[in-house]
Amino acid sequence: MTTFKVNGAARSFDGDPDTPLLWYLRDEAGLTGTKFGCGAGLCGACTVHVNGEAVRSCQTLVADIAGAEVLTIEGLSAKADHPLQKAWTDLNVPQCGYCQAGQIMQAAALLQSNPEISDAAIEEGMYGNICRCGTYQRITKAIRQARE
Ligand code: FES
Repeated sequence: MTTFKVNGAARSFDGDPDTPLLWYLRDEAGLTGTKFGCGAGLCGACTVHVNGEAVRSCQTLVADIAGAEVLTIEGLSAKADHPLQKAWTDLNVPQCGYCQAGQIMQAAALLQSNPEISDAAIEEGMYGNICRCGTYQRITKAIRQARE
């Protein structure tokens, strides 16, 4: 059995420890805010935090999170009122919305590690999160707004 925390709550999983975290979250924990995009670590749609670091949950096994704290979009704030979520709403960032939870979780890890992050470091840090609707300019603007 693997034990860990998800959004502050103790959890355990006695299925195959080689199960990708993404599928544990979606199928076992019912946390469907985390999305499947490529399944190969290339798009960022599945981004969550493990011990405060942004990770691709499609490439992270349940075995890898033993004893760890996992944070998903559902646990980022109590009322969807994280500064990033407010900025996302203010600026109408999403188009189809599919990649946006992953975008926000990637941005949240960046801001957490460096609250005064430079514009260039925002661009660099978000580089691996793909948006097929091309909302990149609004994403960057929203992260800058949340930084302030
Ligand atoms: Fe995990 Fe694309 S689904 S990086």
